Amino acid sequence: MVKVSIERLSTGVEGFDKLIGGGIPRGFFVAVVGEPGTGKTIFCMSFINQGIIEGDKNVYVTTEESRESIIKQAALFGWDFEKAIDDGRLIIIDALMGSPGDIWSLTTLNVEDLVAKVIEAKKALGYGRARLVLDALSAFWLDKPAMARKYSYFIKRVLGRWDFTILAVSQYAVTTSLGFGFGIEHIGDGIIRFRKAVVKGELKRYVIVEKMRQTVHDLRMYEVEIVNGYGMRVKKPTIYRKEDTVLPRSVTEKIIESEERKYYELP
Ligand SMILES: Nc1ncnc2c1ncn2[C@@H]1O[C@H](COP(=O)(O)OP(=O)(O)O)[C@@H](O)[C@H]1O
Ligand SMILES: [Mg+2]
Repeated sequence: MVKVSIERLSTGVEGFDKLIGGGIPRGFFVAVVGEPGTGKTIFCMSFINQGIIEGDKNVYVTTEESRESIIKQAALFGWDFEKAIDDGRLIIIDALMGSPGDIWSLTTLNVEDLVAKVIEAKKALGYGRARLVLDALSAFWLDKPAMARKYSYFIKRVLGRWDFTILAVSQYAVTTSLGFGFGIEHIGDGIIRFRKAVVKGELKRYVIVEKMRQTVHDLRMYEVEIVNGYGMRVKKPTIYRKEDTVLPRSVTEKIIESEERKYYELP
């Protein structure tokens, strides 16, 4: 048999790396998808924090939160992003509060500008293995979703040359559950999907690896925990039941019955 050795980057999320054979293969472009509040940003922040620990060059592009918000959120888990910035290990490109006076900000949500800025950041950080988070990449084509695939391909092709391993977040519309990220998912070397459900009156989060090239990955869905002062942790595999998200049949029937009664009782 031919021997293959694949360098893998740890995500820093407890219990996650072993689902994907030890980590994300170097140079991969991985889609991180899921509805709001499922833990995508915290997952990505953990990946960056791990990069800081391992001495990688790190770039975080934020479109939905300001740089300050990312720094504060990280600090809640004990991750000192402020120090990493001062030490020249991390650049946070702010595409939300972007101001012309700030060199590490984007004032437009334009894919060409994004790529140029990320390359500029890599040059500033210097040579070597690098990590990039695009949170959320889908924000760059909200007004032209048909371009998603083309843009994703462009980003993967160009930034791949700069020794980046990339996590590209795709936001899902709450109302429709439709993704803006199908482009990312098609082009991606991997897909990590986050989900949520209310189980017995409590919000639960889950993660499932839907795709990871060159990897014999776990096929089960796992419960995820976000722990203050610590970070993200993958718990046990879970069976996702339809009953957890929809109302029990008896309840649904009662609602329909009372609706019907109201209708017939109308004067
Ligand atoms: N310090 C913390 N301790 C525990 N849970 C937290 C903490 N900070 C945020 N969370 C949880 O994480 C959620 C946000 O996760 P986030 O990764 O931002 O979601 P997404 O990016 O998928 O929208 C919050 O709604 C909250 O439930
Ligand atoms: Mg987020």
